Amino acid sequence: MKVIAVANQEGGCGKSTIALNLAINLSLVGKGVILFDTDPQQNAWGTIQSRTDDLIPAYSVKSDIHKKIQSFDHLDYGIIDTPPHNSEIIRSALVSADLVIIPLQDSPPRYPELQRDGGSGL
Ligand SMILES: Nc1ncnc2c1ncn2[C@@H]1O[C@H](COP(=O)(O)OP(=O)(O)OP(=O)(O)O)[C@@H](O)[C@H]1O
Ligand SMILES: [Mg+2]
Repeated sequence: MKVIAVANQEGGCGKSTIALNLAINLSLVGKGVILFDTDPQQNAWGTIQSRTDDLIPAYSVKSDIHKKIQSFDHLDYGIIDTPPHNSEIIRSALVSADLVIIPLQDSPPRYPELQRDGGSGL
């Protein structure tokens, strides 16, 4: 399974939207996908729960995603949405990931945010 995490400590930059659209669209082209929401806000998980099509399974995970994700290795893609603050669950998600997508809002007030912690935005 390829694991894609969407992460940035900046709130509201589009993490959950990207995670949801990735998961749903990969599923629509025939891939086996599972979505993990590690944000206590549960926006991505809640959106999946509100759908009536059962297109993809979604789990709300509060800890140790790098361990829990291993039991889904038979699927094609695992998509991980993360919370907007540095935390143990983000580090766990990053350890799990083959690819990390870091959404950015391109406006001058955001630049200090992007430069923090070595410019990773995390
Ligand atoms: N590409 C986009 N263009 C315009 N609006 C967008 C785009 N992506 C997301 N949004 C909007 O921006 C808002 C925040 O998006 P989203 O919830 O995905 O961000 P987030 O990074 O997950 O937020 P949080 O840090 O609170 O979890 C939502 O209202 C969403 O509809
Ligand atoms: Mg979010």
